[in-house]
Amino acid sequence: MSESPSEHDIAQLIRARFPVEPVRSVPEIRLHRAARTSGLSRMAEADAGFGNPYWTHVWGGGLALARHVLDHREVVADKRVLDLGTGSGLVAIAAAMAGARDVIAADVDRYAIVAVELNAAVNDVRIETLLADLTAGPAPDVDVVLVGDLFYEAELALRVTAFLDRCVAAGVSVLVGDPRRAFLPMERLELVAEYPGGDFGSGPDDVAMNAVFVFG
Ligand SMILES: C[S@@+](CC[C@H](N)C(=O)[O-])C[C@H]1O[C@@H](n2cnc3c(N)ncnc32)[C@H](O)[C@@H]1O
Repeated sequence: MSESPSEHDIAQLIRARFPVEPVRSVPEIRLHRAARTSGLSRMAEADAGFGNPYWTHVWGGGLALARHVLDHREVVADKRVLDLGTGSGLVAIAAAMAGARDVIAADVDRYAIVAVELNAAVNDVRIETLLADLTAGPAPDVDVVLVGDLFYEAELALRVTAFLDRCVAAGVSVLVGDPRRAFLPMERLELVAEYPGGDFGSGPDDVAMNAVFVFG
């Protein structure tokens, strides 16, 4: 059985094999990104806990939400913010750049958490990371929850929706960024804005629209 690498080893791998690049449609943010030479399958072979490396890519929902937060700073400025399912940390970094007082970036993937810490340093912002599944718990002690592209599986979408219900009931504002995936609870969402930016796997010329919604 393969042995899980330490956080230090993961950080070294990311620094060495995942070049830092500006994000299309959010060029003020730079992230460690997957390249052809990153060796994702080698990493998966070396660590049984490697999982789906969502953190190595940008996603339509996160692109729209990050753009929205940077263009409408009042949404997060001076507020306590949770980025649920942070992946690369794109949305959390945007919130910190937009003047959020505190930003917590939560994910269930320990590689994502290390990547977020490195990406926060690259962008010179302070973010608290949390390796946890918060969806089964109570509303967190924050003012705003940001959710980028977390409705991609049916069961996960149900859990996230129930968690966001608890957040709204506790007075927390919730913004969702999404390219309108199949499990998005449209009946709970009010469209706020749309941004061109494409999605995971699309080329640099893809200007497909991604949406930002208020959940309520
Ligand atoms: C499609 S990616 C989106 C990443 C980022 N929000 C963005 O838009 O670029 C989904 C992320 O959610 C994380 N995730 C999945 N289930 C989760 C849960 N229950 N709690 C926290 N994060 C979760 C995954 O590990 C992954 O990093």
